Amino acid sequence: MKGTQIKVVALNGSARKGGNTAILLRTVLKELEKEGIETELIELSGAKIHGCLACRECSRKKDHRCAQKDDMGNALIEKMEQADGILLGSPTYVADISPEIKALMDRACLVSRANGGLFRRKVGAAVVAVRRAGAIHAFDALNHFFLISEMIIPGSSYWNIGIGLEKGDVERDEEGIRTMTTVAAEEDQRLAGEQNKAYCPAVSNETILSSGSCRSMAVLARVAATGRIGPALTASSARPSKGELHGTNQNRSCSRKRCSASWRQQADP
Ligand SMILES: Cc1cc2nc3c(=O)[nH]c(=O)nc-3n(C[C@H](O)[C@H](O)[C@H](O)COP(=O)(O)O)c2cc1C
Repeated sequence: MKGTQIKVVALNGSARKGGNTAILLRTVLKELEKEGIETELIELSGAKIHGCLACRECSRKKDHRCAQKDDMGNALIEKMEQADGILLGSPTYVADISPEIKALMDRACLVSRANGGLFRRKVGAAVVAVRRAGAIHAFDALNHFFLISEMIIPGSSYWNIGIGLEKGDVERDEEGIRTMTTVAAEEDQRLAGEQNKAYCPAVSNETILSSGSCRSMAVLARVAATGRIGPALTASSARPSKGELHGTNQNRSCSRKRCSASWRQQADP
């Protein structure tokens, strides 16, 4: 499968073009591009996209498309179908996702299910911009789409949320930006693995490298496109051997002894 071009498409549900959600999505895409992945950012702002009509035509026709032909829906579903990885981005609107991204998700979900799972085993990651509150609910809403679509979700050093109100504010949210680079790139994920080891010394290196949370979007998109995984990430078993899986003893010795000051700050969710 050498030479397979891996593609990730990012869909921004914000009503504001080039705003905070777009900046966060671009941060993820930039890291993916460094890994040789082809990317595309599509902003739904100003686009005509209706909600699902519940007509069930997609289940009858099974032609990979929605029966509504007078808006952007089918063009976007086609982009998603062609990609190996899908990023869904939304600002937080009244503690939820934007209506544009919800309309797309509903229609893409039904079309996918009507056709045996168009997005099965593709990689998906959610990105949310927020001023203050409601981002976790929005983040969860986006992830529900990936999960019901049998997609694979990479973890990061935090939930993929960037904080800001005005356009560009998220650029000053250092941890938010770091979360975006970590969800994207293999190298950063390995670093995160090292930091996790410092955070919890009971976890072995093999467990870190083979655990799902240490596989970045770049690695997983490659797996989705080629069915292959790099040698550094093929440790024999993700399962810890008997007696290796310790719970936290709450004594926070890791905070005192093993963690660097910057990581300690991040150890608190
Ligand atoms: C209609 C609307 C509703 C909003 N609701 C919330 C909210 O519930 N919680 C919050 O923290 N911010 C809320 N915000 C602020 C946006 O989430 C925030 O400005 C975000 O950075 C916008 O991202 P964007 O630049 O990509 O549009 C709201 C903004 C708008 C326009």
